[in-house]
Amino acid sequence: MKYDLTARVLHWASALVILWATISGFYTLLPNIETQVKQLIAGFNVSLTALFIPFFCYRVFHRIKSRSPASSDQISTFEKKISGVMHLMLYVVVGVVLVTGVLMMDKPISIFNVVTFDQVFNNQTVITVFKTIHKYATELLALCVFIHIAALVKHELMGKKILSCMI
Ligand code: HEM
Ligand code: HEM
Repeated sequence: MKYDLTARVLHWASALVILWATISGFYTLLPNIETQVKQLIAGFNVSLTALFIPFFCYRVFHRIKSRSPASSDQISTFEKKISGVMHLMLYVVVGVVLVTGVLMMDKPISIFNVVTFDQVFNNQTVITVFKTIHKYATELLALCVFIHIAALVKHELMGKKILSCMI
């Protein structure tokens, strides 16, 4: 009935990184935010999310090699199907956000000033295409995460204990 410990640790660590990168990333788009603050958040987020890439790959690997726990009897077959599709979508959209994030970089990717990787493309048109995809993918991800959390809250309010399998 519970996800194994590795899956739970991977889930909550990923949730923290994704929620932070999403909220702070959109925050930098607000008007009246100082350029210095914007640059600080952007630099930190590039380091954090680039470091998150191997971690996310391990999460996908762990998910493929281990089974998810049997769902509660309180959940209908239809709800199980929908949640399966939603979870797959979360994995796919996170993957797209990570890949486009790297491909849209117009300067070297520095990870906390310890390691630096060259940017992949120098062609501004190609960079702009990936920037646009990154923007739409982050918006789609925010929507998926919102639905994920709203569905959980709804189920908990209806007395269907789902959260406990991830704690
Ligand atoms: C979980 C992964 C990630 C999330 C949730 C995320 C989220 C966001 C959000 C919400 C924004 C602001 C909206 C936008 O302009 O697109 C943004 C911008 C940005 N992201 Fe990501 N991102 C992720 C991964 C990455 C990665 C891996 C990189 C590069 C290594 C990256 C580089 C950037 C940069 C440079 C910007 C600023 C774009 C601009 O100023 O035009 N992101 N990200
Ligand atoms: C406060 C925020 C969150 C809560 C309370 C939460 C809670 C949960 C719970 C209870 C499950 C198990 C559901 C089930 O098996 O039917 C789950 C699964 C999952 N969550 Fe979250 N979550 C949160 C944030 C996130 C975020 C930000 C992501 C980002 C992508 C995410 C991605 C996933 C995925 C992919 C699964 C499926 C796990 C699998 O079967 O491999 N969650 N979450």
